[in-house]
Amino acid sequence: MDIVDRVLLTEEEIQQRVQELGSQISKDYADKTVALLCILKGGLMFLTDLSKHITAPVTFDFIAISSYGHSTQSSGVVRITKDLEESIEGKHVLIVEDIIDTGLTLSYLIRNLQSRNPASIKICTLLDKPANRTVDIPVDYVGFDVPNEFLVGYGLDFQELYRNIPYVFILKPELYTHNSDSA
Ligand code: PRP
Repeated sequence: MDIVDRVLLTEEEIQQRVQELGSQISKDYADKTVALLCILKGGLMFLTDLSKHITAPVTFDFIAISSYGHSTQSSGVVRITKDLEESIEGKHVLIVEDIIDTGLTLSYLIRNLQSRNPASIKICTLLDKPANRTVDIPVDYVGFDVPNEFLVGYGLDFQELYRNIPYVFILKPELYTHNSDSA
């Protein structure tokens, strides 16, 4: 595609790592039911692939949080736009996220979820961008540390497109540097 600057993670690399994460999670939750909590929309691809490799019983629920609006930079404004359907009280919650950037989204979400009295909360992110972190987040499972670039694919969008691309690529900078309201 002519919007690709370079492929960062191939489909094979992602699938291999997702399988490894699933195996680790299966061991860690061997005697428990895992309440998978997907953060929409970016976490969806990761959730579906990851869950296939978890041998412990799992449930799915979904939450949507708005942190960026339509800007490429975090606004710091975080709000729930779609809440969970099920109670998480007494459950072992595993948050499934596509990427952690500033950490603002998860910082807010963890505080919110803790108040609902789950048995435990852990975080699994496919991508971690530690260079941009502004708040400390205890991340339990990380697929890949990634550089501070505009990443697209495998759940991550550019103008709501390309979430279905099975690999992760760096977007050509000229597509967004001239317009800060483009992502
Ligand atoms: C992205 C990503 C995380 C969040 C991470 O979501 O999926 O939820 O940003 O950024 P942070 O660590 O700086 O808070 P986005 O708001 O772009 O929504 P989307 O998943 O629907 O694309």
